[in-house]
Amino acid sequence: MCNYTKYKPYETVTLEKREWADKTASKAPTWVSTDLRDGNQALANPMGIEQKVAYFKALIAFGFKEIEVAYPSASQTEFDFCRKLIEEGLIPDDVTIGILTPSIEKHIKRSFEALQGAKRITMHLYNPTASNQREVVFKRSKEEIITLALQGVKCIKSESEKFVGEVVFEYSPESFSQTELAYALEVSNAVIEAYKPTPTKPMILNLPNTLEACTPNVYADRIEWMAKHIQNKESVIISVHPHNDRGCAVASAELAVLAGASRVEGTMLGNGERAGNVDLVTLAFNYYSQGIDPKLDVEKVDAILEKITSITGVKVPQRHPYVGDMIYTAFSGTHQDAIKKGMDIHRQKEGNFWEVPYLPIDPEDIGREYKNSIRINSQSGKGGVAYVLKEIYDINVPKELQAKLADEVKSISEKRGGEISSDEILGIYEEMIR
Ligand code: KIV
Ligand code: ZN
Repeated sequence: MCNYTKYKPYETVTLEKREWADKTASKAPTWVSTDLRDGNQALANPMGIEQKVAYFKALIAFGFKEIEVAYPSASQTEFDFCRKLIEEGLIPDDVTIGILTPSIEKHIKRSFEALQGAKRITMHLYNPTASNQREVVFKRSKEEIITLALQGVKCIKSESEKFVGEVVFEYSPESFSQTELAYALEVSNAVIEAYKPTPTKPMILNLPNTLEACTPNVYADRIEWMAKHIQNKESVIISVHPHNDRGCAVASAELAVLAGASRVEGTMLGNGERAGNVDLVTLAFNYYSQGIDPKLDVEKVDAILEKITSITGVKVPQRHPYVGDMIYTAFSGTHQDAIKKGMDIHRQKEGNFWEVPYLPIDPEDIGREYKNSIRINSQSGKGGVAYVLKEIYDINVPKELQAKLADEVKSISEKRGGEISSDEILGIYEEMIR
């Protein structure tokens, strides 16, 4: 029995003039890694302090300038980690660390305590605003939820005055994705009004897709609607925090940026609760592959991923966009033939745009070798087999032998199953021409 009738469609947005759909990305958003907070929360074995330090260093090496490092009021390990970063001078001058805090005075004070001595911090205040959380979990009215948010703002303002470093204020109406838009706006405007950001000291309004339940175009509509309706717009940085429950977080983030967000919170490989947070690796490469500076050191990605996956134990799936092991590999004959021809043309022309079929970016950009992009099994064709001998052994297989060689390789692969290594192909070829 199929139970789809117990679900209802997500509400759409009435936009007088939808603008995001006509826009094209021209620059990468500000990246914020939440690996050490949201990502860590979702690990079966959360990281210890030394692991968090090693992970933090990997994020820095990848180029992150904003890193949400902890929820320090909730655990001693998180608190101690913040202290270690600060006391051991591990935070580069151009990096801002952030923490998450609920709207509860003792948590806010403890969070400031954790960050004493840091040069620049982001105080990220959140409280759930969706009706199912207001009514069922907190049993508070809409007005009471606004009061709760404003108590947090007041406390953060007064603690900021005592704080020696610079404090950036961030507010998230958590579960924005399940909150009525008009109410999300009411809460956000109340917070903006109380915090009084200015163009020179802006605040961040983060609008999370806490539970992704809508298509990316609807998320973009919601962001555009909020961006158009909030007060004091020039003093507010719109940020997004997409989760991936429908598997669309990357698309949601990209469209949300077109819709007015300039900052994206997410994690490496999308680690995070349930289906994860938005994957910033894929997202950064999506900009890169459009000729946009991704503002992250994507060329180092393999080394960085090796480091972080060794810490978390989370593996990179073989088919993960841009970084999976098999992502630049073609077995099928027609793909191999097209890649071989595309590569030949690419090598002949200096300075042309990348247009090799089936390869979204040049594998050499991330230190992968062309010779590994064509691998041979029973699905492969003569172009691929000839390519392997050319790339690896610099052997030009005469045209009249290519089909014969490929047939021989194919028949061995069909009988035995699996892949045929380049050494084996060389052996078959040598035997053939002997
Ligand atoms: O997913 C979410 O809504 C969050 C908030 C705390 C920003 O992680
Ligand atoms: Zn989250």
